[in-house]
Amino acid sequence: MRVSWAQLGEQIAACEKCRLCETRTNVVPGEGNPNARLMFIGEGPGQEEDRQGRPFVGRSGELLTRMIHAIGLERSEVYICNIVKCRPPQNRNPEPDEAAACLDYLRAQVALVRPRVVVLLGKVACQYTIRDQVFITRDHGRWYEQKGVWFMPTFHPSALLRDPSKKRDAWEDFQKVRDKLAELEAAAGTEGTD
Ligand code: URA
Ligand code: SF4
Repeated sequence: MRVSWAQLGEQIAACEKCRLCETRTNVVPGEGNPNARLMFIGEGPGQEEDRQGRPFVGRSGELLTRMIHAIGLERSEVYICNIVKCRPPQNRNPEPDEAAACLDYLRAQVALVRPRVVVLLGKVACQYTIRDQVFITRDHGRWYEQKGVWFMPTFHPSALLRDPSKKRDAWEDFQKVRDKLAELEAAAGTEGTD
């Protein structure tokens, strides 16, 4: 049975399905437009996200927000969430069993939002969604379509902060996302006409 946003919020807030519940300050379920055409999936909350209970509000969040603005959108128009909803200690990668435990929530979010385009921020986001062997340097910028949803693997903003020389490639990926949204919009606009 499909859950509602309210039910999902309650389930995540009370969740103890993996060990990350023991060290979290706040759960970070996700936020944005519940009917967004564009969704962003990160890895997991960092320190600032854990403190505020909101996704991408630290340093990588500032960069992500700038990139969203650069393709002509506001954060409130897109939906932003993560593979795991609780902060991994010391910002380590989520363990496979933690990601597996949390993935039902992400599936529910995708089912509720029904985005047309999903940007996968970094290896971890790709690994638990489209396929397990991903090398962002090789695989970024290539569309992956599944059941009419278009997935775009790209660099995690924290990787761009560590190595600004990757920003140029990331910007090209974001431009492809912007163009895909326009293309889907145009196709939807002509449906039913000659
Ligand atoms: N990094 C992530 O992957 N997600 C956040 O929400 C913040 C930083
Ligand atoms: Fe539950 Fe996900 Fe938090 Fe683990 S990370 S406790 S599965 S909400």
